[in-house]
Amino acid sequence: MGNVYKAVKVSEHVYWVGAIDWGIRDFHGYTTKHGSTYNAYLILADKITLIDTVRAPFREELLSRIASVVNPKDIEYIVSDHAEMDHSGSLSRIIEEVKPEKVFASVMGTKALKEHFGLGGILPLKSADTLSLGNLELTFMETRMLHWPDSMFSYLKEDRLLFSQDAFGMHLASAERFADTIDTAVLDYEAATYYANILMPYSPQILKLLEDVKKSGLDIRIVAPDHGPLWRRKINAIMESYAQWARQSPSNKAIVLYDTMWHSTELMARAIEEGLVAGGARVKVMSMHSSHRSDAAYEILDAGALVAGSPTLNNNIFPTMADVLTYLKGLRPQNLIGAAFGSYGWSGESPQQIGDMLAEMKVNQVAEPLKVKYVPDGDDLKRCVVLGRNVAKKLKEVVKHG
Ligand code: FEO
Repeated sequence: MGNVYKAVKVSEHVYWVGAIDWGIRDFHGYTTKHGSTYNAYLILADKITLIDTVRAPFREELLSRIASVVNPKDIEYIVSDHAEMDHSGSLSRIIEEVKPEKVFASVMGTKALKEHFGLGGILPLKSADTLSLGNLELTFMETRMLHWPDSMFSYLKEDRLLFSQDAFGMHLASAERFADTIDTAVLDYEAATYYANILMPYSPQILKLLEDVKKSGLDIRIVAPDHGPLWRRKINAIMESYAQWARQSPSNKAIVLYDTMWHSTELMARAIEEGLVAGGARVKVMSMHSSHRSDAAYEILDAGALVAGSPTLNNNIFPTMADVLTYLKGLRPQNLIGAAFGSYGWSGESPQQIGDMLAEMKVNQVAEPLKVKYVPDGDDLKRCVVLGRNVAKKLKEVVKHG
């Protein structure tokens, strides 16, 4: 491919040699509206070391960027911080082509790489292990379940640089490599969307990890994640955002998710919205006909209430509502109150099914599921307004008592 693609210098000894995926729009169910990057890093030490690789189709871009600073065959060590395919997909081919002296991963990483790709001979690293690169030294910290069992941080002492794999990253394709050169509003939105869709289920582990990083006393001047821009400023701010998201403290915000067949459930959603607003809640209403599940995940990150409604279709929840609730359940949002609702024509199972799904998500429901037959009349809509008011009232109490 020639050296069309160039490496970007990150610190005294480190170059970014990743790939930019401007076109990706679906990342295992998460809509990546603004693409992504797969970051890999080259450390120019006595032992030239590659940290992570890229998705398989981007191998040539990785090699081209490496070749802009060194002959790829001069790489002696490869460290795999994370075995998911977006970082390990090209590892086997890179090992074949580069023939490194040694390849390293966490203990769980060695197993994952063996099971995924049949890669043997990978050397295991544990938390606090160090690896001499000759003139430089890497230290490792296992970050199990952040967000895979194999996940690991690597820290380059001399450059005070933390390779944080998926943590502190975002799905954002950009020509800029550093967060301080990108609009803050874009960073805030993309970092929160990424957290909600990838890391939210592991919030308790994240709180512990942040404590561990603090206790470690590591002097971190650059955070180099595996997606999106690198942080060389506002490192405390992104870590504090993670702490805030991980705590999942309820806020005075309610989200109303619904879909509708003939607008009856929509009328109910809008009346519930009126009740929520009248009760003093901040409200976001999302039709799942026109919203994506990952946008709902973003909105739930700082919400205190989830109100979900669906018509009954063939004795079941409408497919879009089953989709979003299944997805949100997997993300394990905490500390939510809520309610279920929906219109129906004959049997009307859906509101109870929604209520059951909310119960599985440990959403504390303020009322029995609200059902309306056919088109809601004035009295029905009043009941919806009352439901919204009741959710808002309970939400205020919850927020007040923390
Ligand atoms: Fe970016 Fe968990 O892979």
